[in-house]
Amino acid sequence: MFFTIIGAGVIVYGIFYTVVTSLLDSDLYLGFLDKFGKSPRKLKGKVVFITGASSGIGEHTAYALAKHGVKLVLAARRQNELQRVKAQCLALSGGQLEDKDVLVLPMDVLDVSSHQMHFDRAVRHFGTLDILVNNAGRSQRAAWEQIDLDVDKQLFDLNVFSVVNLTRIALHYFNTKGEGHVAVVSSLAGVIGAPYSGSYTGAKHAIHGYFNSLRLEKSSNNIHVTLLCPGPVFTNFLQEAFTEKSGQKLHGSTQPTDKRMTAERCGHLNAVALTNKVSEAWIGKFPVVPVTYVSVYFPILTKLTLKLIGTDRLFKLRDSKDPVEIIKGIKKLILQV
Ligand SMILES: *[C@@H]1O[C@H](CO)[C@@H](O)[C@H](O)[C@H]1NC(C)=O
Repeated sequence: MFFTIIGAGVIVYGIFYTVVTSLLDSDLYLGFLDKFGKSPRKLKGKVVFITGASSGIGEHTAYALAKHGVKLVLAARRQNELQRVKAQCLALSGGQLEDKDVLVLPMDVLDVSSHQMHFDRAVRHFGTLDILVNNAGRSQRAAWEQIDLDVDKQLFDLNVFSVVNLTRIALHYFNTKGEGHVAVVSSLAGVIGAPYSGSYTGAKHAIHGYFNSLRLEKSSNNIHVTLLCPGPVFTNFLQEAFTEKSGQKLHGSTQPTDKRMTAERCGHLNAVALTNKVSEAWIGKFPVVPVTYVSVYFPILTKLTLKLIGTDRLFKLRDSKDPVEIIKGIKKLILQV
């Protein structure tokens, strides 16, 4: 009897969660925090360091914070793009931020030997630093068995090792300061598997391993660790995405008709997750969050569903495109190289 009640409770909660997150564009906790939690306004005057801030999710996370008077370090390779983002941040802040409150920091995250220098420069400029948001990275579209090992290594260098290196530097600083917050833009592909992105999915799972381990080590310190996991978002990420061949870029693009979240909304939800020091935030338009939830907590249902709808339909859900079409596109590119 006791176990029946518990079992029924789990099923009822599972259904409740799936239904409610179908109406939201995030996991249940983040959706709750967005309405009733601390507003990013609470971060006013704090200093946040964002990598990959010149476009996409990094850019829009910067805007979401700037609106509330959060001081920013905008890091990326393209200085002119960073200047554009900075100007927009100052405008959005409505006078809360002055020129010196947004630092443009040209840096290539792959150049790990320069991380310390860039980090020190940011701390020197503001006299302090509160949050590091590792956002820089590239996605991938490729057939698993065709991927060159060089691509796996390059993708890990960018999406994993550069993040780990910069985060360690930040942690040395936060340890001395006695408090701090490190975050990383992962992906729902870091929670479940994503087809046609083998190295990318592997790298995001590695990021979850690294950051979950760190969170346990720091659980009694005043250091917080946040994994931000967006699903499909409208950015130009398919342009720069890795394929299966070394040195190749996908040069793909998203379509306005795709089922994706706007980068603006994703930036806002990132800001909410950071303000409330969420451990792991799932972000995405229906149905990616309930799909992720069911995959993690009811794997047998996923197995059945995959049998019914097939991987290709699942992939369509991600890119709103047929995988065959995309792989064909890649093949064409390979012939061109
Ligand atoms: C980051 O990488 C550079 C280059 O390999 C290294 O010199 C530095 O010690 C690393 N930083 C940390 C904190 O591990």
